Amino acid sequence: MEYKMILTPEEEAILNGSQGETMAKVIKTLILYGETFGAKRFVDVTAPGHVVTSFGISVMSPVFNITQELIDAGLKAKAPFTVDPRPIDYANVKCNPIEKLIFSKILYGEQARYEAQLRKLGLKDQNAFTCACYLDQVGNTPKKGDILSWAESSAVVYANSVIGARCNRNSGIIELFGMILGKVPEFDLLTDEDRKAKWIIEVKTSKKPEAQVLGSAIGLKVMEDVPYIKGLNQFIGTTLDDETKSYLKDMGAATASNGAVGLYHVENLTPEAVEFGEDIINKDAKVYVIDDAELERVKASYPVMWKDPNGKPDRCFIGCPHLTYAQLGEWTDKFEAELKKQGKTKVGMNTIMTTAPDVLEAFKAGDKAHYDKLVKMGIHLTSICPLMYMNNPLCGKKNVITNSNKLRTYTTSRYYTNNEICEIAVKGEI
Ligand code: F3S
Repeated sequence: MEYKMILTPEEEAILNGSQGETMAKVIKTLILYGETFGAKRFVDVTAPGHVVTSFGISVMSPVFNITQELIDAGLKAKAPFTVDPRPIDYANVKCNPIEKLIFSKILYGEQARYEAQLRKLGLKDQNAFTCACYLDQVGNTPKKGDILSWAESSAVVYANSVIGARCNRNSGIIELFGMILGKVPEFDLLTDEDRKAKWIIEVKTSKKPEAQVLGSAIGLKVMEDVPYIKGLNQFIGTTLDDETKSYLKDMGAATASNGAVGLYHVENLTPEAVEFGEDIINKDAKVYVIDDAELERVKASYPVMWKDPNGKPDRCFIGCPHLTYAQLGEWTDKFEAELKKQGKTKVGMNTIMTTAPDVLEAFKAGDKAHYDKLVKMGIHLTSICPLMYMNNPLCGKKNVITNSNKLRTYTTSRYYTNNEICEIAVKGEI
């Protein structure tokens, strides 16, 4: 078969079986994937990978079969990789006995087998389960200009935008193949041309916009295009410090899930906006103005998916994407102030914060005062993915509230801003 991608002699040899039949299938799949999107060649992956499929859900046997074929062929990722969060944590996310039985025996019955497979393929360690793999404590932090083979949308948009690495919004398994071959087809966000902005977003709000609503508005408008955001510096500054990076993490995840944004630029802040200024905006870029009324309109458009819209909330999830170390401290202070305001000592409903295992360990050891306060307030800390936890008929029936626009988009959970959710979680009702 003739391919349009130009292959090096080494790539040609791999395709012809020099590294075995399975590796030939890996490169062939990546060639077909690349050609679909107009790639002309492969480029080397220059930083560790991140796998999006983290759950051993029984219906995914094709994934486990492919993974096993890679292992049987002696293949491994070129560098130790991280993976998205686990779906369950019985110790910190309570389940009734029936739920536990269904989770462990039916839904996620393949979890242990799949994790064993990931270890054989080069999983970094037991703490590698987080979508925020780029956080300092986790250590899978690419450098500007690195080429990545990732698929997790919130991590891809962060790496591209905040770090200036280069990664497409790949799918699961494709990203694993890229990290095994050590090469990815070059197209879209890997090229200078396609990293240019097709939209100018003018933020004209009266106060700092809620990150998750701003990201939602941008994503819903620009879909998969690259936006250049102006007017945000007045609220979040021009330095990529911990607070600003946390804000961009949350905003970016909403752009990537409410739309399909893989890269955004923020004027005077993100690396390529700083380097190229307005030269990174396409000449014919469209303009979208976001003011207070527009944010209100977007927020009001979210459907309420609860069976009884007037029902009581059962559970509150905060931390999708996983919270940073700084955010854990900020949320502790926020809850402490709200409890004081409402004259209480404990939250009024099952409240769960999610963060990376490495961040949680660092927080427990490094900020014991805040950690102890959280525990005393009745807040649970875990490292699961709330989306994986909710994406089944059992949990889908629960009245879940969240401050995550990604979780809202993919589940029946109901979105509230950070202030709103803190007040509701303490009160125990809406
Ligand atoms: Fe992370 Fe799961 Fe949310 S992977 S971004 S916690 S949906």
